[in-house]
Parts: sequence; C-alpha cells; structure tokens
Amino acid sequence: MRHPLVMGNWKLNGSRHMVNELIDGLRKEVSSVDGCDIAIAPPFIYLDQAKHQASGSRIMLGAQNVDINLSGAFTGETSANMLKDIGMKYVIIGHSERRTYHKESDEVIAEKFAVLKEAGLIPVLCIGETEAENEAGQTEAVCARQLDAVLKTMGAPAFENSVIAYEPVWAIGTGKSATPAQAQAVHKFIRDHIAKHDANVAAQVIIQYGGSVNASNAAELFSQPDIDGALVGGASLKADAFAVIVKAAA
Ligand code: G3P
Repeated sequence: MRHPLVMGNWKLNGSRHMVNELIDGLRKEVSSVDGCDIAIAPPFIYLDQAKHQASGSRIMLGAQNVDINLSGAFTGETSANMLKDIGMKYVIIGHSERRTYHKESDEVIAEKFAVLKEAGLIPVLCIGETEAENEAGQTEAVCARQLDAVLKTMGAPAFENSVIAYEPVWAIGTGKSATPAQAQAVHKFIRDHIAKHDANVAAQVIIQYGGSVNASNAAELFSQPDIDGALVGGASLKADAFAVIVKAAA
C-alpha cells in the first residue's frame, strides 16, 4: 500500500516570521492526521529554522534544489551532504522553473538524482509537459524522456524510495489544474513506463500531482488510483488551505 505524500513547495516565498507562524499553524491543524506524509520545502535560508520549528511534529522538511558537486569551489551552491546534515528528508529536483530559468537539462537533473540517492535523501523528481507540448500530443513522450534520463543512468531501482511529481507546466500557478481524469491518465502512463523496467518498483513509487492543487480540488484528484498526494505551490503558503489538502490525502 502506498502512503501518499503532500509536500508544500514554498518557492521564493517566506520570512523568519512566516516560517514560525505557518509551521505553528500547520502543526495544530495536522496533529491528528495519519495516513499521509507531510513535508514542506521553504527556501534554503530558512531550512534550519523550519526544521527546529517543526521538531516533534509530523512535518518533514525538504529543499528545493541541490548541486551535483559535494564540496569545493562552487560559489553559492549547496550539497546533498549539507542538506542531509541539517536533517532534510526530501529534495525537489527537475522543477519546471529550474528547467526553464536555470536551463537545467535532463542529464543534470539525473546527476542530481544520483547525488541525492548517494546521500540517502529522497529525490522528488518533477516532470511534465508545457502547454505547447500538451497541445501537440507530446505529453507521454516528454514524461518518458524525462524519466529515461534517470532510468538510463541508474535503472529502475533508483526509484525505490523516491518520489515523482507530475507537474504539467500549463497547470503551475495558473489556477487551471489538470482534471482528475487527465492527471490519472498521465500518472498511469508514468507507472506503466517504470513497470516496463521493474513492476515492483513501479507499484510502490509515489507519484504526486502538482499544478494548481487547492483545498477544493484536492480530494477529487486524490481519489484517482495512481495519484499519491500532491506537490503544492501557492496553496501551501496558508496553513489552513494546506491542511485541507493534507487531510484530503490522509
Ligand atoms: O511545485 C509546485 C508547483 O509548481 C505547483 O504550484 O502554485 O500551481 O500549486 P501551484
């Protein structure tokens, strides 16, 4: 039985005050929730503070990026071992915003996946097609290509204890979520694609949906058989809205 994961990606939002307030609010709201893993990914600079603020609760911490290097002359970067050292559990990689604004290739993202596995961290690998790719009927081909970058270098076992987030780019921050049926079809494709390599790994890998998930649409998305929680952007910045999403997955 897969345990859903609802994770908040705060992106470039936050302050010391917000970290304390949002986590305190969330801890109260989700204290009795069982049956769903809960994580938040604030900006790097607040991770340590957030980790302390969430201590003793069911809220786990994740980072929004990692460098492929472990140490050395790489100004401004953060390594997998550093993230492990401060108690991170998850690390988001391959987000479309990093693919677009930071020109991250499938190959670099696969390298990030590898350093995270090596460090004992859980990659949350974001994949998904743009609007133009969607309209051109390329959704499955794009998702397959993005998965294959990892499958080719590390094989299907890499997806054991890993998370995939299907985030159609056209649904991110637009208020226009994929419908539950649309998302389910792609999630099934993703699971089947991994099953071609290893059916057991495919059956247990967590596949989150991301893209305009909110308190109103979460339950219906989570009722789909291959949707195992969500990666939430905007709605994770309000404790009450995020808690509704968490409870819908539990
Ligand atoms: O990683 C989460 C994400 O990109 C979705 O953002 O604001 O549409 O929930 P949002």
